[in-house]
Amino acid sequence: MSHLELVRGDGIQVVRGWAGGNLELPNLWLRDNCQCSECRVTQTTEKKFHIVDIPVDLEPASVLLEDGELLIEWPDGHRSSYALGDIEALIDVAQPAWQVWPDPYRPQPVDWTAFLADDIVAAKALEDYLASGVLLLADAPVEAGTLEALAPRLGPIREVLFERIHNVEVDPDGYNVAHTTLPLPPHNDFASYTWPPSVQALHMLANETQGGESVLVDGWQILENLRRDQPDHFAALCNTPVPFREFDADNETFSVMPMVRCDSAGNIDGLRYSNQLMQAMDPTRPGVVEFYRAYHELSRRVMSGEARICFRLEGGQILVLQAHRVLHGRQAFTANAQRHLQDAYYEQDNVRNHLTVVRRRMNNG
Ligand SMILES: [Fe+2]
Ligand SMILES: [Zn+2]
Repeated sequence: MSHLELVRGDGIQVVRGWAGGNLELPNLWLRDNCQCSECRVTQTTEKKFHIVDIPVDLEPASVLLEDGELLIEWPDGHRSSYALGDIEALIDVAQPAWQVWPDPYRPQPVDWTAFLADDIVAAKALEDYLASGVLLLADAPVEAGTLEALAPRLGPIREVLFERIHNVEVDPDGYNVAHTTLPLPPHNDFASYTWPPSVQALHMLANETQGGESVLVDGWQILENLRRDQPDHFAALCNTPVPFREFDADNETFSVMPMVRCDSAGNIDGLRYSNQLMQAMDPTRPGVVEFYRAYHELSRRVMSGEARICFRLEGGQILVLQAHRVLHGRQAFTANAQRHLQDAYYEQDNVRNHLTVVRRRMNNG
């Protein structure tokens, strides 16, 4: 470490020669991230030090770099030390990456009982789910309410209005096109919520009718293709708020949100797409012409077979979808026999939590 040199900059400390470059450490970051027992709640490791207790132009009274350790004394006498190796571990923290579907793609069924009972099976299935956005469970019970049993792996259930476990059957009084025999264009549910459920499970209890094949579309793959081919269209979808409404006699949900959400690094983070719930927007609003051209192109791709698979969901099978990524729909069917689907919702953060906990349990023996 002797080749490292420490230099003061404007509001920062600079370690020269770190990995062949400069490691720039802001003074406020350094003070905020002191790990000593005075600055932490020792019982929980949470931060106790609060940034308001120092001046914004805080400078160390003295700094020393020794054996890969940065030692700082602050003007009030408080001392902090930092291992440069620990700081390096914070750089470029890799996020779990999603993967495009192979071509052709068919989700491989995972046995229901093994998924619930066996941590090794569950960990593999959840890792595949985070990559593909799809988990297909097979040989599940065909009793109503079975989705409650997925809570230990995916849950808790994210409740929304209408029903805790939604029933999708032909219903002449139904509030949604799903309750008819009409084809359902690919969509995600509850676009009318500011934060729609991020995980959806569709449980087929009985599927004896003709037709009604399930359709899945990888919305993020379509959006990546759109961004590559027509970046102006992509931008219009990110920047134009669109109204969505879902309601019945007792409920009224409404949101006004762009169809595409990106994170601060520009990675696609969410697609909100529902032809049936979309409402009329103010036609005089600037950008509506550009938005509609972009929406037309997005819809052409959603309906064209791009990044789409189609298969029959049999009784006893459950589709779990990353609902802000994968759109679901179905083909028209003939109401000549029983078709009964139930769906329930969960949250992606909780799925990741369960995977982390399962991995921890496996590592501990
Ligand atoms: Fe749906
Ligand atoms: Zn401290």
